[in-house]
Amino acid sequence: MTSPKTPTPHVPSLLQNLTSLVGAVVVASSFFAAVCLFAIDFFRGFTNPYMGILSYIVAPGFLAAGLLIMIVGALRERRRRRRAAPEEIPPLPRIDLNVARQRRFFILGAAGTFVFLLMTALGSYRTYQFTDSVTFCGLVCHTIMKPEYTVYQKSPHARVACAECHIGSGATWFVKSKLSGAYQVYATIANKYPRPIPVPVANLRPARQTCEECHWPRMFYGSAERAQTHYLADEHNKPWNVRMLVHIGGGESGRQTGGIHWHMLLSNKVEYVASDRQRQTIPWVRLTDANGKATIYRSADAGASDAPPAGSIRTMDCIDCHNRPTHIYLSPIDAVDRAIAAGSIDRNLPFIKKQAVLALAGEPAMTAAGRDAVAAALTGFYAASYPKLAGTPAVTQAAAAVQDIWDHNIFPAMKADWRAYPDNIGHKESAGCFRCHDGSHTSADGKTITHDCGACHTIIEQGPAGKTTSRLAGLEFKHPADVGDAWKQTNCNSCHDGATLP
Ligand code: HEC
Ligand code: HEC
Ligand code: HEC
Ligand code: HEC
Ligand code: HEC
Ligand code: HEC
Repeated sequence: MTSPKTPTPHVPSLLQNLTSLVGAVVVASSFFAAVCLFAIDFFRGFTNPYMGILSYIVAPGFLAAGLLIMIVGALRERRRRRRAAPEEIPPLPRIDLNVARQRRFFILGAAGTFVFLLMTALGSYRTYQFTDSVTFCGLVCHTIMKPEYTVYQKSPHARVACAECHIGSGATWFVKSKLSGAYQVYATIANKYPRPIPVPVANLRPARQTCEECHWPRMFYGSAERAQTHYLADEHNKPWNVRMLVHIGGGESGRQTGGIHWHMLLSNKVEYVASDRQRQTIPWVRLTDANGKATIYRSADAGASDAPPAGSIRTMDCIDCHNRPTHIYLSPIDAVDRAIAAGSIDRNLPFIKKQAVLALAGEPAMTAAGRDAVAAALTGFYAASYPKLAGTPAVTQAAAAVQDIWDHNIFPAMKADWRAYPDNIGHKESAGCFRCHDGSHTSADGKTITHDCGACHTIIEQGPAGKTTSRLAGLEFKHPADVGDAWKQTNCNSCHDGATLP
């Protein structure tokens, strides 16, 4: 229908061509699919991560592609018509709002565009939320992220979204993360990712911009009590207790200053150079105090000149100590100690500590069939050495507990375990604090980064369970097994690697 005042000949729409038609079909069907999926998500929520990919990445992707095809079709059609009759079709479209038909098209088009933009805004917000969600990060790339996701779920940060630590707030890091994320998706599809995933994570956002959204070391103060029960590798699995006050410290809370966080972060700046990728060997450290005075400490094997050895200087932050705040892979020794202490492994089983550790640390545990292998190793030991115990509930339960440990800490497909990802808090099973505090880092004027056992913690109770010694003012460390003065002379992790037993 045309207006009586300005008659115009009816021109068939530019969209009437095969390409645009195909585009329109794609648009219509993906629009329909997207609306249905949005509605399901809105009312029921998705439990399956692939549904999220469908609704927020695949469907909108097809919608956009369909629109593009429609436009390309229309442009090609226009070019074809112009070539056929150049004088009839002007270089640019002529819009005349006095023509009722064109007016109606215009109003319809404007309304459609408005609705479309609104939907796009909502949709892309949901796409953004979805690609930042724990489901997307943790579950979509099932095999690759399985280790990180599994250990995360048992950690203190299980309710903190991956993106809160890996991206944080603000647009710059959002863009950076989506760009590197796009590469990761490619690496996944092309099967190009390394196993284990290398750490430290390149370009991890500076920790103080993420961790300090929730934790504020200035407000920490005092010491925290930490108690651990270890079980020795003898027939009776002799329990050995260690209770200590860890000098967490902090400052500027008006209560007390001092301790670990005060020295390391608040009143001093510590920089270092590491000679390996994982930052486990640190030959050079520079301390700049509140007055700006710098002191350089070197380990015995560092070069003599004051210039830093090859490698870039890094300023210490949270991650240099807390590198495993959520992806915590327990070593066999640590995990078995915890399971015995929790009662899921019966301490009365002879040699259970030693056998459980041997099962978890053995070669077969590192294969895809490791889950069955660890249980078989344990039941096999009791069948051979203690036939009376074979098949008892205690052994069956211990075998199940060891499988549970395997499920949550050892991931052969990604080669992820306690060896690939050492924890820098402490110093027993990896160098940790002793990367600098090993007593070998000295300055030109003879100062040494402290190796004093009382600098970071005070041991207030220790010894075999039931016969412990305690003293609030602090005890000198007593090593549970007789190793002479070795614990004073060498780093603990030269004997303790989380798996090797005497
Ligand atoms: C509490 C903060 C935090 C949360 C929450 C978090 N991460 Fe991490 N993530 C880290 C830190 C810190 C590292 C280690 C950085 C380093 O050593 O350079 C890391 C490392 C990783 C690595 C490298 C491999 C490894 O095991 O170290 C991957 C992959 C990873 N995270 C994925 C995830 C996924 C997936 C989630 C959500 C299920 C998640 N992260 C949640 C802080 C976090
Ligand atoms: C979104 C908030 C949030 C962010 C971001 C966050 N955390 Fe936490 N963190 C928590 C919560 C909640 C707990 C558990 C507190 C509790 O249960 O006592 C926690 C606990 C901890 C603990 C104590 C763990 C334990 O074993 O008791 C440490 C250490 C810690 N976080 C370090 C970090 C580090 C390092 C980062 C940065 C990589 C970080 N957090 C980022 C919220 C956060
Ligand atoms: C020099 C190493 C070091 C640095 C750097 C460091 N921490 Fe810690 N932090 C520790 C140690 C050691 C503990 C005690 C851990 C334990 O006993 O479980 C601790 C404990 C914590 C706790 C638990 C406090 C509690 O009361 O249980 C939180 C939270 C924490 N740190 C957050 C941070 C944040 C955030 C940063 C960076 C701004 C940071 N830390 C930097 C070594 C460090
Ligand atoms: C990169 C090297 C480095 C690492 C790793 C490191 N520190 Fe330190 N730390 C230093 C330096 C340097 C000093 C200052 C030494 C001085 O005052 O002369 C220091 C001082 C301290 C002090 C104050 C000691 C005192 O008596 O004045 C505490 C407490 C401390 N660190 C705790 C820790 C803990 C806990 C860890 C492990 C979680 C750790 N540090 C890891 C370099 C390091
Ligand atoms: C630079 C700080 C620092 C120094 C110096 C230090 N430690 Fe520790 N130590 C730690 C931290 C941090 C932990 C971990 C606390 C935790 O697990 O919560 C720890 C843990 C321990 C544990 C408990 C291990 C466990 O698994 O139960 C013992 C025992 C211990 N230290 C003994 C010593 C002895 C002995 C010395 C002196 C040779 C020493 N420490 C020097 C920081 C230090
Ligand atoms: C010369 C080697 C050697 C050194 C160095 C050493 N240990 Fe041990 N440690 C042993 C042996 C052997 C046992 C007995 C293991 C068993 O029976 O399970 C043991 C047992 C332990 C145990 C109880 C069982 C366990 O595995 O958890 C603790 C805790 C411990 N050592 C802490 C330390 C600390 C902390 C240091 C450093 C200050 C240290 N050790 C240095 C050899 C050593």
